[in-house]
Amino acid sequence: MRVEGKDVRPIWLSEDGAAVCVIDQRMLPHEFVVLDLRTVDDVLFAIGELVVRGAPLIGITGAWGVYLAVCRTQSDGIDDESLHRECGRLKAARPTAVNLAWAVDRVLSVVRQARSGSERREAARTEAAAIAEEEAENCRKIGEWGVSIVEEISKRKNENTVHLLTHCNAGWLATIEWGTATAPIYAAFDRGIDIHVWVDETRPLNQGLRLTAWELGAYGVPHTVITDNAGGHLMQHGMVDLVIVGTDRTTYTGDVANKIGTYLKALAARDNGVPFYVALPSSTFDWRLRDGVAEIPIEERDPDEVRYVQGRDGKRTTRVLIPPAGSPARNDAFDVTPARLVTGFITERGICRASEEDIRRLFPEKRREP
Ligand code: MRU
Repeated sequence: MRVEGKDVRPIWLSEDGAAVCVIDQRMLPHEFVVLDLRTVDDVLFAIGELVVRGAPLIGITGAWGVYLAVCRTQSDGIDDESLHRECGRLKAARPTAVNLAWAVDRVLSVVRQARSGSERREAARTEAAAIAEEEAENCRKIGEWGVSIVEEISKRKNENTVHLLTHCNAGWLATIEWGTATAPIYAAFDRGIDIHVWVDETRPLNQGLRLTAWELGAYGVPHTVITDNAGGHLMQHGMVDLVIVGTDRTTYTGDVANKIGTYLKALAARDNGVPFYVALPSSTFDWRLRDGVAEIPIEERDPDEVRYVQGRDGKRTTRVLIPPAGSPARNDAFDVTPARLVTGFITERGICRASEEDIRRLFPEKRREP
């Protein structure tokens, strides 16, 4: 995506192939910092600390992590036991986004078919790069399909402003290009549709306030940041026409895990008759899980992320403590929105309802995995 006249992606391979370069998303929007990841441990740190985040990008970073694991041993290549161990560590870096295991396994399977160290390195590099390009293309297609929903609402409103609401950051920073939830937004904006986006702050780490607002602003999309609790009120007053969010894992029955607070938005949307769409590439479907609430692993993160807030104080980024020093905190990073609250999915293959039957109609080749 273009930022200040330059084409930028959140991840790329360095020219000499020795490092995976990532935008440090912890520092946005006030500082643009690029980190070089050279080892599997660097990748584990980047995923775990949310230097990189968002389900598709976590997957792509994991894929490059396998490449770095393979590069570690220069001459005769990594042995199978070490390779499996490193892949296991990568897959465990964050538990909720299913894209991580999907991408790591995909690179692992091509590496295992290669023999020499150099063949393995080349295979890992080609596959990781292919995953990144495919995800970019999937997001572009999500935009093409999803824009029809925005167009329809715009027509119904006689081309008056369409107000969208999104939660967290499911933008290009969370994917590679276009984003998932933001892809229809960018496509609508590019087509000249009059749109405005309500951006949920997304406590505790403020991905909406920091990242989605930065992305939309850089592209020129009209937007307003709001508190996490404002959405229901805005919906009650007819100020939201459409909700679009991303997801970290969606069951084949249509239950959606996404950033904590998504469920409450879906409830408010249902109560107010506002369409609630989830945008995702097929890599985010979990073809093994039926019951999202019972089965999707929900990451619990450091309580200090709730207790402290990071922001800008003059020229430096700083963290401040909000509650009484002794108050305990709890930090569930995701929640699950049951399929019954989801109006539909926007995927690279088209739009479907949130039911097993409709999802399988779009992806007939996906068998239920053991
Ligand atoms: O904890 P994060 O920032 O990785 O959470 C990200 C989200 O919840 C996104 O909505 C989701 O990964 C979809 S990204 C296209």
